Amino acid sequence: MSTPPDLHVAHAERAAALDAADPLATFRDRFIFPDTSSDRVLYFTGNSLGLQPSTAATYVQRELDDWARLAVDGHLSARNPWWSYHHQFKEPLAMIVGGKPQEVVAMNTLTVNLHLMLASFYKPTQERYKVLMVGHEFPSDRYAVASQLQWHGFDPHEGLLEVESAPGTFEITDEQIVSAIESHADSLALVMISAVHYYTGQLFPLDLITRTAHAVGAMVGFDLAHAAGNVQPDLHEVGADFAVWCSYKYLNSGPGGVGGAFVHERHAHRTDLVRLAGWWGNDEATRFHMDHDFVPTPGADGWQLSNAQILPMAAHKASLDIFMEAGMDRIARKRDQLTAFAWDVITDVVADRTDVRIITPADPSRRGAQLSIQFDHHGRAVFDALTRRGVIVDWRVPNVIRMAPAPLYNSFADVAEFGKHLAESLVETAS
Ligand SMILES: Cc1ncc(COP(=O)(O)O)c(C=O)c1O
Repeated sequence: MSTPPDLHVAHAERAAALDAADPLATFRDRFIFPDTSSDRVLYFTGNSLGLQPSTAATYVQRELDDWARLAVDGHLSARNPWWSYHHQFKEPLAMIVGGKPQEVVAMNTLTVNLHLMLASFYKPTQERYKVLMVGHEFPSDRYAVASQLQWHGFDPHEGLLEVESAPGTFEITDEQIVSAIESHADSLALVMISAVHYYTGQLFPLDLITRTAHAVGAMVGFDLAHAAGNVQPDLHEVGADFAVWCSYKYLNSGPGGVGGAFVHERHAHRTDLVRLAGWWGNDEATRFHMDHDFVPTPGADGWQLSNAQILPMAAHKASLDIFMEAGMDRIARKRDQLTAFAWDVITDVVADRTDVRIITPADPSRRGAQLSIQFDHHGRAVFDALTRRGVIVDWRVPNVIRMAPAPLYNSFADVAEFGKHLAESLVETAS
């Protein structure tokens, strides 16, 4: 069964009107689309690896040139001096995650930062040692938490709790999360959740989670891998203790790019918080005194270990300059429109199919840009057919295609075309 051509015409017309009214439409030209055999590549994988900003090469080359020209003097005399390079990220990252500049830092990579945060904020006792996560969490987070439990002498099978959706459903309800927290009120040390779930695309209620966990005396941390640059986590207001993220997805800063961390200001000056320290976390005023005793820089900067990774940070800067220009509010507004349009297009296309469905929440306040399409069969074949057509989405075992229109470089026309390709791919793979 194929969808009527009229439907695609209607989608294309609606897309044309939305693109014409889109204040961010020209930002698309700031990114480099991959070279494929198709005439027009449709890229919907910004939730995995964001596109390269066209300025990235210039920004990285500038640092290479300064390194060639100045060698060690670049630390102080480069056009963006390397000793303070990471300071440039405070304003954009604060805007992106909803923190204060002192609460955010660009450093390391996501899983490394998660371990650093757990070292400070997961302080189990014999009574209070459990960690609550959501079911089917991204493996790296689960490995990190399980290994931290073991590090402290606890059995992860007992100490790592997972809140699951009801059988046959994919959305984890607020009631399920609250009840899981409250039923372990006396033994819970930490709630550690990905703000946006990598598989289903569900955005969790960060405010409710934080309030409920704090009320029972647990710490709260969020993984923003799929949230940073996508949704607005508003971390300061929400009151999370810490958060970590990567920059290669919606933040378009390149493969393995520099990660980030948030530490709430209530912890900024705490001297009782043990951390795994390094010299770059020492107070800048005395860092080069080479003293024996570690004096942490107040705020998130105090968790840095090593001197800044200038080359990946240059690509990060190229991208965050674009975020500053576009503004997170405008990006979020377009994300809502774009995802709602994608929702309509996909549901129209699969309207007569009982074997294909979107498992991402229908409520826009419970999702970001990603829509996860689940197939009872032939899903992998549909994915392959889409790929042959130049539609870049991703396949996640066992049976989901994830697509994520990114507001900075996807147009509504991209989404309308996706619908046409999806319809044709479904027909092609039906037998
Ligand atoms: C939700 C989530 N957490 C953690 C990671 C791991 O990130 P990294 O390899 O940067 O440590 C990823 C990577 O895709 C992820 O999606």
